[in-house]
Amino acid sequence: MELTLLPKRKRTHYCGEPGLEDVGKEVVLMGWVHRRRDHGGLIFIDLRDRTGIIQVVFSEDIDPEAHKLAHRLRSEYVVCVVGKLRRRPEGTENPNIPTGEVEVEGHELYILNTSQTPPFPIEDEVNVAEEVKLKYRYLDIRRPRMFRNLLIRHKAALSVRKYMDEQGFLEIETPVLTKSTPEGARDFLIPSRLHPGKFYAMPQSPQLFKQMLMIAGIDKYFQIVKCYRDEDLRADRQPEFTQIDIEMSFADRDDVFAVVEGLLERMFKETIGVEIETPFPRYTYQEVMDRFGSDKPDTRFGMELCDVSDIVADSEFRVFTEVLKKGGQVKGLVAPGCAKLSRSQIEELTEFVKIFKAKGLAWMRVTPDGVDSPIKKFFPEGTINALLERMKPNPGDMLFFIADQPKIVADALGNLRLRLGRELGLIDENRLDFLWVVDFPLFQWNEEENRWESEHHPFTAPNYEDLHLLDEDPGKVRSQSYDLVINGMEIGSGSVRIHDTELQRKIFRILNLSEEEIQLRFGFFLEALKYGAPPHAGIALGFDRLVMIMAGGQSLRDVIPFPKTQRGICLVTGAPSEVTEEQLKELHIKVDLEEK
Ligand code: AMO
Ligand code: AMP
Repeated sequence: MELTLLPKRKRTHYCGEPGLEDVGKEVVLMGWVHRRRDHGGLIFIDLRDRTGIIQVVFSEDIDPEAHKLAHRLRSEYVVCVVGKLRRRPEGTENPNIPTGEVEVEGHELYILNTSQTPPFPIEDEVNVAEEVKLKYRYLDIRRPRMFRNLLIRHKAALSVRKYMDEQGFLEIETPVLTKSTPEGARDFLIPSRLHPGKFYAMPQSPQLFKQMLMIAGIDKYFQIVKCYRDEDLRADRQPEFTQIDIEMSFADRDDVFAVVEGLLERMFKETIGVEIETPFPRYTYQEVMDRFGSDKPDTRFGMELCDVSDIVADSEFRVFTEVLKKGGQVKGLVAPGCAKLSRSQIEELTEFVKIFKAKGLAWMRVTPDGVDSPIKKFFPEGTINALLERMKPNPGDMLFFIADQPKIVADALGNLRLRLGRELGLIDENRLDFLWVVDFPLFQWNEEENRWESEHHPFTAPNYEDLHLLDEDPGKVRSQSYDLVINGMEIGSGSVRIHDTELQRKIFRILNLSEEEIQLRFGFFLEALKYGAPPHAGIALGFDRLVMIMAGGQSLRDVIPFPKTQRGICLVTGAPSEVTEEQLKELHIKVDLEEK
């Protein structure tokens, strides 16, 4: 094997940089052979690096030795080219690339490494399975779009650090080998060699550490930090992901909102040159559930849900009246232009809402002369008119209705709204709708386990006006938590925190934790709260999700350099993988695969 050393030449330009103003200069370029075209006497190569592509010409006349060597070049060979920049002959310019007016006369060529033929061409529009791209992620990242996404990620992080520093926040690291803080997912555990049978948990978030930093007097903390959650993955979830984690002392909700609004304004401007409008609108949880059937509403289109319980109460349609008698509700939405849907299409939508536990989907076509529906006969004319008056459809629209308990109605109709919005092309993809959702309930009822659980996390302060309800009716207590939503995606979540030991203990008890469990899991924190904990509040923003929005990506995988698959596998390394017997022995661990 012949090893070519890096020539003693310093790079003068990246491939994407030279332009007409550099004509006549000597350039030294380093990069990968993107393409080679051999015209016998002339060999053209497109040389590529992270900034772009430039054409290099080798010929007998320019330099016979370099020309001869250029015959050996293949795709993805790594080379150094020394040459002279010249204007391309008239008629051969390439308007599709920034360097298209110039080319390099190749005077010297150094082959720094060879390459096997890559499993896919290094281009943005390649049609290759996601698994192949992830296995060869280092080749995937050579594609311009991936590089651009990572550049956006870098700029965004830089912008966060500058802004937060200017606002007086300190970036402080918190441990990865730690004890679990509940954020609603399973922990990743790490066995301790020094303490057989004991485990560290990787943090689902730095929640308790940032609160202890407030007790420590840090006053304003932030961190761009990895969090680890062993949960089922989706396009917007990864088992390890990054948060912009923020906590402030002597601060309330409005202080947190002001910091975050300023941060996002700055980040979108510096990273992608987009001006966003602040302050963001605020909606209560109740309002977004009523109007959009979701606590993370996509407000880029209408089609809001409409409560018609009072109107249909006196109809003869038992499906509706029975539900109302049991304390349920009937809500509907207007699907524009959907009167033309066929029976089988309606059937398919009915199956869709059943995924969200709805029992069916009632419908009425709106025609110029009224409505057309198999259930029309159950409704007096006055009722139909009242429905039309409230829902305000146009002829050609379809009315859909769901009757059930409020939670199911919201979920099913909210998801139907989203699906129809997408399929009918009602969503303006160029819009960025930022909003806050406030006044979440403090608890939600867990049917399976028959107990209250925190809607956010157990360290969230209740709305102090609702304190008296904690014992009487926990489900009615509003919390001081808030979510940030962009285009229907939850981007951030936070709250004013409990800073009082007794209140914190009380919340744990309502969550049905025994005194022993409280002591075992959170004793250290209750102890910390006793030593002058200041009032404090904070939030965590999903950094990957933010970058995904800025990069216009579809999946978190577009903006994470080495992501995991849906099944939690790192295809580059093959992790997770087996370990040796010795390693297990050291950790006092026996693997028993029979049990599951
Ligand atoms: P929460 O659990 O809501 O709050 O997380 C905050 C934000 O992190 C992002 N996020 C994720 N992104 C990618 N993959 C995941 N698996 C994932 N899980 C969450 C979301 C979410 O809004 N400690 C609290 C915050 C606080 O109270 O200050 C917390 O972690 O964008
Ligand atoms: P059925 O009387 O069960 O044949 O239902 C008549 C129509 O009402 C069908 O279109 C069903 O999909 C619909 N339907 C059934 N249950 C509900 C419900 N809970 N909410 C809305 N529509 C329903």
